[in-house]
Amino acid sequence: MKQYAPACERNRQPILEVLAPLLKETATVLEIGSGTGQHAAWFSEHMPHLAWQPSDQPGTVASIEAWRERSGAVNLRKPLEIDLLNKKTWPQESCGALVCINTVHIVSWQGVKALFDLAEKVLETGGVLYLYGPFRYANRPLEPSNEQFDQWLKQRDPQSGIRDFEAVDALARAAGLDLEGDVPMPANNRSLWWRKSA
Ligand SMILES: C[S@@+](CC[C@H](N)C(=O)[O-])C[C@H]1O[C@@H](n2cnc3c(N)ncnc32)[C@H](O)[C@@H]1O
Repeated sequence: MKQYAPACERNRQPILEVLAPLLKETATVLEIGSGTGQHAAWFSEHMPHLAWQPSDQPGTVASIEAWRERSGAVNLRKPLEIDLLNKKTWPQESCGALVCINTVHIVSWQGVKALFDLAEKVLETGGVLYLYGPFRYANRPLEPSNEQFDQWLKQRDPQSGIRDFEAVDALARAAGLDLEGDVPMPANNRSLWWRKSA
């Protein structure tokens, strides 16, 4: 049941280098759309001060659990079944950070909005919402590789697609989050993060 995504192997270290200083003072992380569970295993192992809570849609967490069992990291919690589009599945517990990697271009725009609603609900004051993935910016053309990726995503599911940074940032501001970081990452991805203001 343990699934493997080669991309996770490639991006986990660059992402860790952003997350490690960012989450130095954080105690609990909720990850949305954990996928295979590789990131959760890697990040919990390399940031042992954190309680890492992975999650994915109901019925899709077996691989995360398999990676958790293999990892043995005591700070890696059992995966939760969270569907952004179903508030009944959302956790009640607050968290110091929300992490969502390569997922906002997969879920519908409704799902992106839901992610920020979730942040408004569960993120502690001073906490961070971190996103990783490709984004489109109003002041520059989308990279050709991302243009192709966007077309591929939309053919697969018209509700998917690379998100406009400005539209995502507007959702963040409406949820009481201030943009704190926007840095380039390998393969034309970005690390973006916002902090919940007091
Ligand atoms: C491209 S994968 C990324 C997985 C992982 N974060 C990674 O970087 O390898 C997108 C993830 O979004 C999850 N997802 C899709 N729709 C979702 C929803 N409505 N609520 C929560 N997760 C969702 C999928 O199950 C999948 O694990």
